[in-house]
Amino acid sequence: MTDLDLVVHDAAEVVVGPDGTGGLDRREDAAVAVAGGRVVAVGPTDAVTGEYPPANARQAIDASGESVIPGFVDSHTHALFAGDRSDEFEAKLRGKTYQEILAEGGGILRTVRATREADDETLLENLLGHLDTMLACGTTTVEVKSGYGLEVETELRMLDVIARADAVHPVDVVPTFMGAHAVPEGRDAEDYVEEVISEQLPAVADQGVAEFCDVFCEEGVFDAAQARRVLEAGQDVGLTPKVHAEEFTRQGGAQLAADLGAASADHLLRATAADAEALAEAGVTPVFLPGTAFSLGEGYADARTFVDAVGEGPDDDGVEAPVALATDFNPNCYSQSMGFAVALGCIEMGLTPAESLVAATRGGARALDRPSPVGTLREGAPADALVLDAPSHVHVPYNFGVNAVGTVVKSGDVAAEPGVSLRA
Ligand code: NIG
Ligand code: FE
Repeated sequence: MTDLDLVVHDAAEVVVGPDGTGGLDRREDAAVAVAGGRVVAVGPTDAVTGEYPPANARQAIDASGESVIPGFVDSHTHALFAGDRSDEFEAKLRGKTYQEILAEGGGILRTVRATREADDETLLENLLGHLDTMLACGTTTVEVKSGYGLEVETELRMLDVIARADAVHPVDVVPTFMGAHAVPEGRDAEDYVEEVISEQLPAVADQGVAEFCDVFCEEGVFDAAQARRVLEAGQDVGLTPKVHAEEFTRQGGAQLAADLGAASADHLLRATAADAEALAEAGVTPVFLPGTAFSLGEGYADARTFVDAVGEGPDDDGVEAPVALATDFNPNCYSQSMGFAVALGCIEMGLTPAESLVAATRGGARALDRPSPVGTLREGAPADALVLDAPSHVHVPYNFGVNAVGTVVKSGDVAAEPGVSLRA
C-alpha cells in the first residue's frame, strides 16, 4: 500500500462535498485519510482510523471540535500586478465611477503602466506574497490572469511569472491569457483585437503556459463580436474560453460564452434570466464575484436565477455545483479572501451557507474545467483541505471579516498553519 501521508481524525464535522440537492454531504465525528496526495477514506473516525491508524501516518491532526472542509478554489483573479491603487479607492468613495477612472487613463491602464515597468523578480515577489495570503485564508487552487501587459512582451512575462509562482508555491496556480483586458492607451479596439489575434495569441501558444483565454466584454472595451473573434482564435490554439460578461452593461457576453462552450461566464451583474438559461443549457459555469460588487456598490448578481436555471438542465455536474464564487482579487477589488466572498454570497446574494461553500469549492473547480471529485473530499480527490478554527462550516460566513481557517492541507501536506506558510 502507498505510504499514509496524513490522517485528520475526530473532527466535529467533515464536509465531503455537495449532496446533489443544494445541500452538503457532511459527516459528524469524522476522519479523512490521505495517501499519495489523495483522499483514500472519509467517514466515521472509528472506521477510518481502524483501517488507517494515525500512528502509521507521516502526519496526524486531531481536529476535535473543528470542522474540516475542502480547500477553496478561487477561479477568477488578477493577482499578478505592480503598483498601488488605494487612492482610487478613496476617489470611488467620493463618488467617482470605475468607468470614469478608466476613461481618464487610471484603473487597469494605470496598473498596465506599473506592470510593464516592473522587473520579473518584483512581479514574482508580488504574486508570491498574495499567494501566501490566499493560502492562509484557505485557497488551495487559484486562477491568475495576465492582462496588465497589453503587448506581447509583458503578456508573455506575466504568464512566465505565473508558471514560476506555481512551481514554488503550494497553491496550484492556473494560468489564463487575457491580452484583451482593456484597449491600450491611444489604440483603437479593432486594431488592438487584430494584434491580440495575429501577434499575441500565437506567441502565447508557442510559450505553452496558458490554459484559458479571457476577454473583458464591456461597453467601451470589447464588444461581443470582438470578444468572439479573440476567443475563437484562442480556441484554435487550444485555449478554453472564459468571458467577463454583463458586468456594467449587458453586451451579450453570457450568450457568447454559451455559444462557444466556455468554461465560465463571470460577473453577470446585468445578466437576465434568458442568459442564465443559456449558460445552464450549455453547461457553462456562472462565476459570481461579490467582492467586486461590494467594492463598486453596483448591486449583486441574481444568484438564485442561475441556481434554479441549472436545476432544470441536463448537466449532472451543474446540478451538483450550479454556480461558482470567486474573489476577483485585483487592484480594484483588493481582497484575497474566499471566506469574505462566501459571506457575501450568503448575506447579499441569498445563497445558503451550504450553497456558498459548494460554489467556493466544487463550483470553482468546475469553472476551471477540473472534473469531480476535484474540489471535494470524496475518495480519490486531491487532498486539499481546511481545518477550521470552528465547529462547523457555517462559521465561514457567520464569522465574516475574520479568517476562520486554521490549518491548510495541500495535496496531503500541511501547507499553512495559523501565522505560518511554507514555500518550496
Ligand atoms: O474583473 N473588469 C475587468 N477586470 C477586472 C478589474 C481589473 C482592474 O480594475 O484592474 C475585474 O473586475
Ligand atoms: Fe476580472
